[in-house]
Amino acid sequence: VLGQDMPYEEYMAQIQACPKECRCPPNFPRAVYCDNKGLKSIPNIPPYTWYLYLQNNLIEVLSADSLRNATELRWLNINRNKITTEGVKEGVLNAMSHLAHLYMDDNLLSSVPSPLPASLEHLRLSRNRISKIPPGVFNGLEKLNLLDLQGNKLMDDDVTEVSMKGLNSLVQINLAKNQLSRMPLGLPPTTTQLFLDGNNIEKIPSGYFKGLPKVAFLRLNHNKLGSSGVPKNVFNVSSILDLQLSHNQLTEVPLIPSGLEHLHLDHNRIGVSGSNVCPVDLETLDDSVNESIPRLRYLRLDGNTIKPPIPRDVILCFRLLRSIVI
Ligand SMILES: *[C@@H]1O[C@H](CO)[C@@H](O)[C@H](O)[C@H]1NC(C)=O
Ligand SMILES: *[C@@H]1O[C@H](CO)[C@@H](O)[C@H](O)[C@H]1NC(C)=O
Ligand SMILES: *[C@@H]1O[C@H](CO)[C@@H](O)[C@H](O)[C@H]1NC(C)=O
Repeated sequence: VLGQDMPYEEYMAQIQACPKECRCPPNFPRAVYCDNKGLKSIPNIPPYTWYLYLQNNLIEVLSADSLRNATELRWLNINRNKITTEGVKEGVLNAMSHLAHLYMDDNLLSSVPSPLPASLEHLRLSRNRISKIPPGVFNGLEKLNLLDLQGNKLMDDDVTEVSMKGLNSLVQINLAKNQLSRMPLGLPPTTTQLFLDGNNIEKIPSGYFKGLPKVAFLRLNHNKLGSSGVPKNVFNVSSILDLQLSHNQLTEVPLIPSGLEHLHLDHNRIGVSGSNVCPVDLETLDDSVNESIPRLRYLRLDGNTIKPPIPRDVILCFRLLRSIVI
């Protein structure tokens, strides 16, 4: 049985060219496994490889020579190696014109590598030392929908309209654990999941989410947001379903949209009561008008100064609540 509809000659060429350090499963001939081998350099990769696993080695360089024939790659995992920005040889990535998934977590990159192939869909660069996004590096990446930059050294001036330009299909961006002190600029309007945990963000400009009409999952845990840095209506955005603001310095429950389903407000300095928590007017809340009932199902308020019992207004307002931690 030849896997993945490979012609016989290609199949034989692929199996015969399998590097001795790697494993090329006969029933999955487009995959080459070279992970966890203590490799210091990339072996010569056979020409019909689609999936290449190089994670957990000591590789410093993405060399053009060893990857010369690897132009058919769809998936390259080189997580947990020692690749530096200088080690990504000119043209080596964009020669892979079908590459959809590039995983380079836990390396030593100081900049987003470039040029990148226009075929990319997922780019993971978490836990490097990235302090620079070269202008235009994402230009033409019309298919990129996931960009993971968490655990790097990005500062405010690195995430701008100029650096983010071209990400016209972006759905998820992870900028957690960087050195941002304000909300990032230039995020594309397609953004649905925005993760900014573990930065130093103190305030959110009013109307910030007007530029992000699809944002649904918003994580700002472990920042420095105080209630004075959260304008009244800033989170009152109907697309938001999941809002996480744990471990900040909020003293009040922010105004939330009526469609919000999950709210994390634990470990803040919130001291009060329900009365202004309800996104709709309790007096007019009418069970017979389905749409008017706030959709909140999960609420965390622990680690604040609120003490049980659960405020009566919270119960009256959030009738669909399934779980509350207080
Ligand atoms: C690339 O493929 C050609 C033709 O199959 C082969 O002669 C050459 O050795 C290969 N190069 C590498 C670096 O694997
Ligand atoms: C929140 O937004 C909704 C819909 O955009 C609006 O009708 C409502 O008045 C806003 N709430 C407040 C308190 O401004
Ligand atoms: C109320 O709305 C929910 C979600 O919008 C829907 O699934 C449900 O069927 C509605 N119930 C009634 C009684 O209209």
